[in-house]
Amino acid sequence: MIVLGIESSCDETAAALVEDGDKILSSAIASQVDVHHVYGGVVPELASRKHIEAIVPVLDEALSTAGISKEQIDAVAVTQGPGLAGALLVGFSFAKAYAYALDIPWVGVNHLEGHINSVFLEPDPPVFPFIALLVSGGHTGIYKVLSHTSIELMGQTRDDAAGEAFDKVAKMLGLRYPGGIIIEKLSMDGDPEKIKFPRPYLDKDKFDFSFSGIKTAVNRYIQTHEEEYKDQIPDIVASFQAAVVDVLSFKVINAALKTGCKNIAVVGGVAANSRLRDQVTRHSLKKGLKLHIPPISLCGDNAAMIAAAGYHHLMAGKKAKLNADVYSRAGYREMLRNGK
Ligand code: KG4
Ligand code: ZN
Repeated sequence: MIVLGIESSCDETAAALVEDGDKILSSAIASQVDVHHVYGGVVPELASRKHIEAIVPVLDEALSTAGISKEQIDAVAVTQGPGLAGALLVGFSFAKAYAYALDIPWVGVNHLEGHINSVFLEPDPPVFPFIALLVSGGHTGIYKVLSHTSIELMGQTRDDAAGEAFDKVAKMLGLRYPGGIIIEKLSMDGDPEKIKFPRPYLDKDKFDFSFSGIKTAVNRYIQTHEEEYKDQIPDIVASFQAAVVDVLSFKVINAALKTGCKNIAVVGGVAANSRLRDQVTRHSLKKGLKLHIPPISLCGDNAAMIAAAGYHHLMAGKKAKLNADVYSRAGYREMLRNGK
């Protein structure tokens, strides 16, 4: 079955063609980063407009790269939420109309479920049940994944998402949006042990996170070192990154040990971070756990992961109706069973 995936929840317009839920035929992504960076974050209204401009060219690119015609598409899977409502609506309305015109089934997909399913686009995927750490700009949580479409929330951030903390710290230091990749690069010239930022583990046996304290500690450091902080940026960001990565890797390994799951997955935009990748790799090896991290191209927002998740809903007989609507935040709990 060839599924067309469409994603437009934030600042990437993406279309992908995926066969049988795990074989990528094409994955096209138009990033809006250059539009938003001058504002230091995503401007929702601009995002919606850019999605409108990009959606048809991105779909054409996905079709031509895959070398297939639209008549060969069997179904459409589209991100339904969570995300920016106006941005979601562009992809969602487009997918609805496209499926209607081609007279093929379509389904709405939870964006988080999409990220979790990104590990199935690689050979040797995880065995159920497994633990997933989802770390992106909008979400940070730990999940027990029972099947492609049955996912239990074990804990999540009480304030900022990890990626959001990277972006906010970058902004405080006058660096470009999005901050994650820039902080990672600058950290290579810094000493991660130079400044002792807090590690907010909260309850070490639970899986909730809080990143606003680390962010505030960085801000306090900047304010109390007004004269010299500009010369210390590599050390500041390396120390910040080390604090965030310590907490993330501790919690995901601990979740696997507590639940007895032997497979873990790290997904989402922040999963591109090399310190996080290295640290979780080392710790999982030590504990005899099998780690699954998608390639960098599938960590950030993409439509292949949406097609992969959608395929399993379609195989289970799910079909969306024409009156279906997007959801920005609410509704996400309905789709993911809250395991707390
Ligand atoms: O999954 P994603 O593309 O979009 C959301 O669903 O949020 O994640 C974007 C987030 C941004 O906050 C970005 O700064 C962060 O992922 N990110 C990184 C890296 N690359 C992207 N954070 C740390 N290190 C990176 N290399
Ligand atoms: Zn995402």
